[in-house]
Amino acid sequence: MKRAIYPGSFDPMTYGHLDVIKRASEMFDVLIVGVLNNNVKSPLFSVEERVKILEEATRDIPNIQVSSFSGLTIDYAAENNLHIAVRGLRAVTDFEYELQMAQTNKELSKGKLDSVFLATSLEYAYLSSSSVKEIASFGGDVFQTVPDFVARLLYEKYGYDFDELKKKYYG
Ligand code: PNS
Repeated sequence: MKRAIYPGSFDPMTYGHLDVIKRASEMFDVLIVGVLNNNVKSPLFSVEERVKILEEATRDIPNIQVSSFSGLTIDYAAENNLHIAVRGLRAVTDFEYELQMAQTNKELSKGKLDSVFLATSLEYAYLSSSSVKEIASFGGDVFQTVPDFVARLLYEKYGYDFDELKKKYYG
């Protein structure tokens, strides 16, 4: 049985993440979406909220499991007998960081955790959780970047009314 982990912050999950999840779910028997719960980054959404969002967005994909983890990805992978990490590559600018992370994980795990990369579909190549949060923080249009239920949660965090903004942008 081929299992893989897709680790990330997912703060929050965007259509770009969902694209990688859907495509990876067709390549592996089981895909574990691992939501990082390290305290160093101060996320907008709690780890419980991020897990819930991913569960809701992937509930029609049977071979996805969503869980949170703390510490190093290689340790979580070893505990769960996972040997492949999936990551999305949006542009050349991602490459350096991703290559370094993949090589670090490979070295640290003594070769036990390898990485595979999926080129993000072009329509989502510009997307990042950070920019989605920034747009939402100013009441901008995030409806093309995250599912509606995530947009609602995002706008709530920043004190905006979801229905008002939906009407403003889409009539
Ligand atoms: O969605 P992100 O923030 O790009 O995901 C980064 C993530 C969570 C994959 C990475 O920061 C990670 O694996 N963190 C756990 C700590 C770790 O293993 N660090 C060593 C990798 S160089």
